[in-house]
Parts: sequence; structure tokens; C-alpha cells
Amino acid sequence: MGSGRVFQHNQGLNSPPLSDIHVVVLAAGKGTRMKSQLPKVLHGIAGLTIIERVLRTAAALQPASITMVVGHGAAEVKQSLAKRTRLQFVSQEQQLGTGHALLQARGFLEGKSGTVILLSGDVPLLSVDSLKNLLATHAEAAAAATVITAILARPFGYGRIVRAAGKISKIVEERDTTAAQKAITEINSGIYAFDLVPLFAALDTIGTANKQGEYYLPDLVAIYRKQKRAVATWTIQNADEIRGINSRTELAEVSTMVRQQKNEELMAAGVTLIDPATTYVDADVVVGPDTVIYPCVFLEGSTKIGAACEIHSGARIVNATLGDRVCIRNHTVVTDSTIEAGAFVGPFAHIRPGSEVGADVHIGNFVELKKTVMGSGAKANHLAYLGDATIGPKTNVGAGTITCNYDGETKHQTVIGANVFVGSNSTLVAPVTLADGSYIAAGSAVTTDVPAGALAIGRSRQENKEGWVAKRKEAKAKN
Ligand code: UD1
Ligand code: CA
Repeated sequence: MGSGRVFQHNQGLNSPPLSDIHVVVLAAGKGTRMKSQLPKVLHGIAGLTIIERVLRTAAALQPASITMVVGHGAAEVKQSLAKRTRLQFVSQEQQLGTGHALLQARGFLEGKSGTVILLSGDVPLLSVDSLKNLLATHAEAAAAATVITAILARPFGYGRIVRAAGKISKIVEERDTTAAQKAITEINSGIYAFDLVPLFAALDTIGTANKQGEYYLPDLVAIYRKQKRAVATWTIQNADEIRGINSRTELAEVSTMVRQQKNEELMAAGVTLIDPATTYVDADVVVGPDTVIYPCVFLEGSTKIGAACEIHSGARIVNATLGDRVCIRNHTVVTDSTIEAGAFVGPFAHIRPGSEVGADVHIGNFVELKKTVMGSGAKANHLAYLGDATIGPKTNVGAGTITCNYDGETKHQTVIGANVFVGSNSTLVAPVTLADGSYIAAGSAVTTDVPAGALAIGRSRQENKEGWVAKRKEAKAKN
């Protein structure tokens, strides 16, 4: 609770108390250039939607409120954020411009005092530090509005910051610029701090006399200057932070930056990445020190990986928890499962949801697990399907073993005890139990429970016909 306040007092700045900060996020726009059925802000960047990233940054300021302006795809956007209970939505039925968008928050904010931080729903890289700098500049200048600006070598497309005697006097949109204004390299990021008290009255005075016929939020700058109110700017050094996402190309470029940052954090924490450029790690993934990650690995969702693991090329690990010293060999897929310390899995293994692979288990090539628990030291080294099964410690499952867990209507359990030996190519017809220490002869179809220590043979007996080959040859020669 108090950390935000401590920040302010330590800075010795005349900042408003953080409890007076209200964040507004504009996210009603269509995102036409994405050419997508999905609302733009719901596209993903390394495991989080664009809007989720913006909201995490906003939440880090511990504001009094967060209001999101939604329009296009509002229902889907709201649904994707249903877990964020403190978030309030307002809808902008028609997208008449950024000024009009902010006006929609009037019902929640008018009459309050404090500071509005205005964020764009499609600008996901902005850091909390930059927002704190914005707030500090805003407070120091006692400004009605403070704009984050950036200096860009190629400012095309952005609103330009027009200054008179060094002070910002207005912002001109690309389409409305004169030839001289086009040469201005200082641009509007679209991120601002506003004093709440004069805000809504001033928004009411914004007109639509511009090339797009829209209500431009940046027009507030000229309006405030005319009213002799202070307007300040804070120029961000790392212009990447204010990059917006308008196309799939920009989505890919920003994703690359986000991944790079995550990979650098992992390496700083002692993880070896053989090739960071082809290591794809989602935002919330945790990896322990001395783990080695080979090229072309995907670690997704809420995955947690222990220390000193090896994750080989082609692996995809989703919402899984791995203990220490686990080795995931090439082209293995693990989803919603746990793998305990010292286990070996793969190559070409498929660990499907609900599986628990115990310590020191060996799972080899072309083995599929689904909702299956394997006790410590158990082995299934080749070609098996083990579904809805519990397998005891130190049990060996031979090549080609199949649990027949599905009778066409319902799924059934296979229970295999400790130290069981399941011979190759066995068919275990569930529900069935193989008790501790039992042996299953190779090629058996096991349909009834096997007692502890028993040998089960479930196949027809082999018959040898002496001299059969020679007799057949003779018969053929006569014809
Ligand atoms: C805006 C700024 C421009 C700045 C640029 C930075 C205006 C008029 N221009 O331009 O000065 O350089 O951002 O990226 O503000 N939105 C709504 N409702 C609307 C219109 C927009 O919610 O009616 C939302 C969009 O979904 C988006 C944000 O506002 O999240 C910015 O709108 P966008 O149309 O992308 O503005 P730009 O043309 O990029
Ligand atoms: Ca934009």
C-alpha cells in the first residue's frame, strides 16, 4: 500500500498523492490495419494480450481507478478482462476521435480532483518508470496537461509538437501539418497526464475542424495555452516504449523486443540460452539457474522450470511445472502437467494435460501420457499410450503398451502398482488393476485384474508346425 507514497516523499516532489491518480485507457478503435476478426488489443505478445500488458503497467501505479474506453469488439475485450474486478468500462458507440473517447469517462471522473493518466490500449511497451517521470514533471510544472514526447528521425504519421519560444503551443496531426511542420521531429506519444479539475470543461470545447473531422484530444494543448494554463512535456529517451501496434508487422517487431527483454532477464538470472533469437519464453514463465535452453524452444503460459534442466530443440512446454535436473529431449510437447526432479522425457514424447511424472522417471520416444501419474523411477521408454492411468514407482512399461481407456462411451482407469513389469505390446483393457510386483507376458490382452506377484499371460499359445515350409515348396512345385 504505502510504497507509492514513499517514492514521492523520497523524490521530494510536489506530486499528488497516488490515491488521486485515475488511469484512462483508450481502446475503442477498430485496428483496421490488423485485418483481423479479433479486436486489436486482444492480439498476443509473448503470452499476454496487448491490453493485458497495458493494464499491468497501469496497475503498477496503484491508481485510485482504471477506466477503459471500449467500442469495437467491446464484448470480447470485456470478457477477456473479466478477472480484473477493479477495472471499469465505458463504451464509445461511435469512434469520433480521441477527444470524444476521453469524454466518455466523464460519468466516472467529473467532479473529482487529481490526475488523469491517459494511456493508449495499443501501446504495450511503456514502462512504469516513464509514467512516474511523467507524473513528476506534471506535478513540478503544476500543469493542466503534460505530454510525453519523443524525438524521431522519421516522425511521419505522428502528431507534431509545435513550440513557440521553447514552450509547447499546440500539437498538429500529420494530415493537418504545413510543409514546415512536417519537418518537426518531436512527436506526440499519445500518452498524457491531465489535471482533472479543468479537464471535462475543456474537452467540451474541442471541435472537429480538421482533415479527419474528428475530436482530437491533442487540441487540448492549444486550448489550455489560450486559457494561460501551464502545459508541460516530458521527452522519453527510449522511443521504443511508445511504439503503438497498428499492423501485424508492428506486432511482430514489438514481440521480438519483448522476447529479447525476457531472454536477457533469464540470462541475467543464470539461465543459458544457446540462441536467444530462437528462444520463445512467455512473460510469466520462471526458469531456474544453470538450466540450458537449446534453440527453437517454446516455454508458454504459467510454466515453471527448475534449476539445471536441459530443454532441447523443438520442445513446447505449456503451463507445466518441472523440477530440478529434468531433461526434455527434442520435439517433446508438455501441457498442463508436472515433471519432477531428474526425469528424462523424449525425444518425441507427448505429455498431455493432467499428467504427473515422478522423480527420475524415464519417458522415451513416441510415448504419450494423458491424465497419467507415474511414480518415481518408473519407465516407459518406447512407443506407448498411457491414458487415465496410475503407475507405481519403479514399474517398467514395455514398448508398444496401450491402455484401452475408452470403451466408446466413457473413460476408465488403469491402475498399475509398484515394481510391475509390463511386457511389450500389452493391451491393458480398463478398468483394470495390475497389483504390485506382477508380471505381464509380452503381447497380452489384459482384461481382468492381476494379483500381486502373479504372471498374467493373455494371448493364444504359439504352435510350431515342423517341416511346414518344405512341404509347401513341394506342393507348389507340383502345380
Ligand atoms: C494519436 C494522436 C497523435 C499521436 C499518436 C501516437 C490524436 C488525434 N492523435 O494518433 O497525435 O502522435 O496517437 O500514437 O489523438 N481511440 C478511441 N476512440 C476513438 C479514436 C481512437 O478509443 O474515437 C483509441 C484507439 O483505439 C487507440 C488510441 O485511441 O488506442 C489512439 O487512436 P489512434 O487512432 O491510433 O490515433 P493516432 O492516429 O495514432
Ligand atoms: Ca495509433
